[in-house]
Amino acid sequence: MGWSLLAVLALATLGFGQEICLSGEEDPYLLFGTKTAYIFANRGLPNNNRAHEVPGCQPVAFWMMNRHGSHNPEADEIEKLQNLTNLKNNIVNNYRGGNFRNNNQRICTSDFNLLERWEWNPRHNLTFAGDLTSDGYVSAQQLAQAWKQKYPGLFNDNRHNYLFKYADDRRSSTTFKAFSEGLFKSMADNYDLPKENDEKLLRPYKFCGAWNKSIEENPDTPSQRQIFESKQEYKDMVANVSLRLGFNYDIEADVVRSIYQMCRYNKAWDVTQISPWCAAFTREDLRRLEYAEDLDTYCKYGYGNELNKKVGCAYVKDMMSFFTKHVENELPQQPQVMVQFTEAASILMALGAMGTHEDTVPLTGDNYHTAPIQARKWASSTMSPFNANLAAVLYKCTLNGNYQINDQYQVLLLENEKPISLDWCRVGLCEWSQIVSKLGDIANSCDAEACNGATTVGRYVAVTMSLVFFAVLVV
Ligand SMILES: *[C@@H]1O[C@H](CO)[C@@H](O)[C@H](O)[C@H]1NC(C)=O
Ligand SMILES: *[C@@H]1O[C@H](CO)[C@@H](O)[C@H](O)[C@H]1NC(C)=O
Ligand SMILES: *[C@@H]1O[C@H](CO)[C@@H](O)[C@H](O)[C@H]1NC(C)=O
Ligand SMILES: *[C@@H]1O[C@H](CO)[C@@H](O)[C@H](O)[C@H]1NC(C)=O
Repeated sequence: MGWSLLAVLALATLGFGQEICLSGEEDPYLLFGTKTAYIFANRGLPNNNRAHEVPGCQPVAFWMMNRHGSHNPEADEIEKLQNLTNLKNNIVNNYRGGNFRNNNQRICTSDFNLLERWEWNPRHNLTFAGDLTSDGYVSAQQLAQAWKQKYPGLFNDNRHNYLFKYADDRRSSTTFKAFSEGLFKSMADNYDLPKENDEKLLRPYKFCGAWNKSIEENPDTPSQRQIFESKQEYKDMVANVSLRLGFNYDIEADVVRSIYQMCRYNKAWDVTQISPWCAAFTREDLRRLEYAEDLDTYCKYGYGNELNKKVGCAYVKDMMSFFTKHVENELPQQPQVMVQFTEAASILMALGAMGTHEDTVPLTGDNYHTAPIQARKWASSTMSPFNANLAAVLYKCTLNGNYQINDQYQVLLLENEKPISLDWCRVGLCEWSQIVSKLGDIANSCDAEACNGATTVGRYVAVTMSLVFFAVLVV
């Protein structure tokens, strides 16, 4: 009796005990690149809730870029994700048929049960493709309330104190609506808030021929990601995921990406729910998938191409001209609050133009395992999660009120509500003179030259045009 019980226990330990249960992780890995939920993005970082209280200083102007919150699958993703239903059925067959190559590595019963119950939500169809989710909407409202609580004097009830700019898409305009409701509750509609749709400012890359040609349309742009995906360390991840789901062969890398996409969407739509698809991945798998996307954003919007800084300068210029107006005028200026509603690409380019998150070594497909890359600063998960925001607040100070500062004006730079670390500022707080010398130069040299420059044809046309113009004048 006693012996057989022991034997059962021993078998349980050897067999089922080693199945991997990933959905029930105590401390799951929740950094999912550009599809990370806002509250997961800054977990574990010191949250300096008092950063906005600068002794001896009053906030006088607020500038911010804001990314929309979580959204439904895009039109071009629906079919692939819907196809996970077939994959799920295959996994169920694998499990029921007991044809696992290695029982020790398969998903555990509770993970399997969750997955078996998963169904595609028919509301995720073309009609609602890409729309903001209710979580995305509420998060934007909550952010507006949080800013209002920190800066009640700036976020006041005077509509002339605001200027909102939003990109020409449904997500950005819906986010603007949510944000204004967060500020003014049900009164938001009555305020008729000043707003404009300035595509050139919000998405300068769309108007930059050189960027279009050398990055967007360049087939080499994703090459570092492709190198990484061709490496054994990435293939091992695909092999382990396949093994876990009971396949006798390695499933396609593209299918693994769909599983990942579903997993991270699920966690962004409802941060409290367990996603059955996330159970396919260990922490280390997720870190590799995250790096693959970091390689893409780094090359497309970041330091991976020099041009990105030159395009991103448009945001720095916007901020500088807004603040300069406030610094140069003795009397208070309106608006004091300027908020842009835009997308991840814009925020990444602005952060790059400001020189934040710059690593000492470039991100490449070959260096995933090196220490600097494991601790990299360029990380889409923390830079551009859903609801990402980049704020700059101008303060006017009385000089004897704070012995730590030298200038009458100070600028606090905040990324997702937390001070940005820049070596020429103190915990996000920067002297105006430093801002002028570091960011003012970037703003002043910001023009369309870099976008036209690439083509000699463009220059030739310009010269010809001015000659023609000159000739016309002379005649
Ligand atoms: C979805 O699955 C069907 C049937 O297996 C297949 O023909 C189709 O190519 C798949 N679509 C995508 C986008 O993977
Ligand atoms: C999407 O789903 C909604 C609600 O279920 C339905 O009213 C709508 O017609 C569907 N759209 C398409 C394109 O199938
Ligand atoms: C970008 O390049 C594509 C392909 O060459 C072209 O069709 C498109 O018009 C370009 N867009 C811009 C804004 O230059
Ligand atoms: C894949 O699984 C093996 C065996 O459990 C493990 O040693 C290896 O580290 C895993 N690889 C990855 C990329 O997680």
